[in-house]
Amino acid sequence: MVDVARAMAHDPHGVFARMREAGPVHPIVAPDGSAAWLVTRYADVQAGLGDPRLALNKTHAKPGGYKGFELPPALDANLLNMDPPDHTRLRRLAGQAFTARRIAGLRGELERAAEELADELAGHERVDLVKDFATPYSVGVISELLGVPTASRADFRTWTNAVLGVDATREGIRATVREMYAFFARLLAAKRTEPGPDLLSALITARDDGDRLSEDELTSLAFLLLFAGYENSANLIAGSLLAMLSDDDLRASLRTDPAAIPALVEEVARHMSPALLAIRRFAVEDVELGGVPIPAGDTVFLSIAAANRDPRRFDRPDRVDLERPDTARHLSFGQGIHYCIGAPLARLEAELAVRTILDRFPHATRYAPTSWHPSVRVRGLASLPVELGGTRV
Ligand code: HEM
Repeated sequence: MVDVARAMAHDPHGVFARMREAGPVHPIVAPDGSAAWLVTRYADVQAGLGDPRLALNKTHAKPGGYKGFELPPALDANLLNMDPPDHTRLRRLAGQAFTARRIAGLRGELERAAEELADELAGHERVDLVKDFATPYSVGVISELLGVPTASRADFRTWTNAVLGVDATREGIRATVREMYAFFARLLAAKRTEPGPDLLSALITARDDGDRLSEDELTSLAFLLLFAGYENSANLIAGSLLAMLSDDDLRASLRTDPAAIPALVEEVARHMSPALLAIRRFAVEDVELGGVPIPAGDTVFLSIAAANRDPRRFDRPDRVDLERPDTARHLSFGQGIHYCIGAPLARLEAELAVRTILDRFPHATRYAPTSWHPSVRVRGLASLPVELGGTRV
């Protein structure tokens, strides 16, 4: 059995490519040490994302199987651990806040936020676009939307590193999750006494008026939106900036035609796959995936990253190619009922980030190697060192 956790953390796309070519479905050791299956080819991953026989609720896991993060019950009652009809009800409520219209309405605000960060960068010769731009931008946007006080925002990075890092220990994860839970409980209590114009206050009101969201559902939704909302987005932003800064011709063409920036973001989403794996699923009955029998109760990981670079689906998949006719068919935001609720926001953030850096720092150049976070779940740059007005070294 392959211990993908360790191997993947350092070269996820290489490991996935080898596994995808060796076969469509592999027995693996999951990040929590339990046995699981990994699905690698586009057709099977796509089918798996929409297959109701692959459920997200952990009650379908066989005894002694998947353990995962062992979240406290109040945080476990989240969308990514639910199937219909519970999922349908909660998704409808949360979805009201993330309509494409509402997100498009945030454009001006997001532009200003990116400009303000660029103003801060402008005082420096060398910056790290992950630490100094992508992360604060993405944390700032989702925090503003949800109504998280500025003082708490720095904690998120520490929390996600402690939970998602490849060296995360069970004890470390448990302690961090307890800290996060206490934070969300305090935040929601504060919103309850003093509601604001933010999304969390709106969700509390929706609950109190119509008794629609339980206390646990509220806490876990807050947790999910913040947690899911900034890490993946920061990674998509940083990845888009890296692609732009790594190719002079591409940068020149984006300067002439900024309308092509969304195409870059979309292609980076495919190529990079910020969420390497879809949320783990459990077979509710005996199923066959890619011709391999999977017994009921077994854990299944659908590899978004492997699917997005499957040569059976995408021509020369390892290239970032803005002319690719089928980029939009990537699976980076999932598909079906669990399709990412934050996709319009994440796309807008990445577009505006590229546009701002391109406009404000036309001569920005990378002066040192980039580094990546060792993680089995997310693909993210740990640093992107850039000289703002300098020359290429
Ligand atoms: C503001 C940013 C974001 C927010 C608030 C957000 C939030 C969410 C939420 C709440 C879900 C669960 C939806 C459901 O079960 O109905 C979800 C699913 C998902 N998100 Fe996001 N997300 C964001 C950004 C991203 C980014 C940048 C990526 C990767 C490119 C991503 C990848 C995914 C994937 C793959 C799923 C589906 C998982 C599955 O079916 O297994 N998200 N997101």
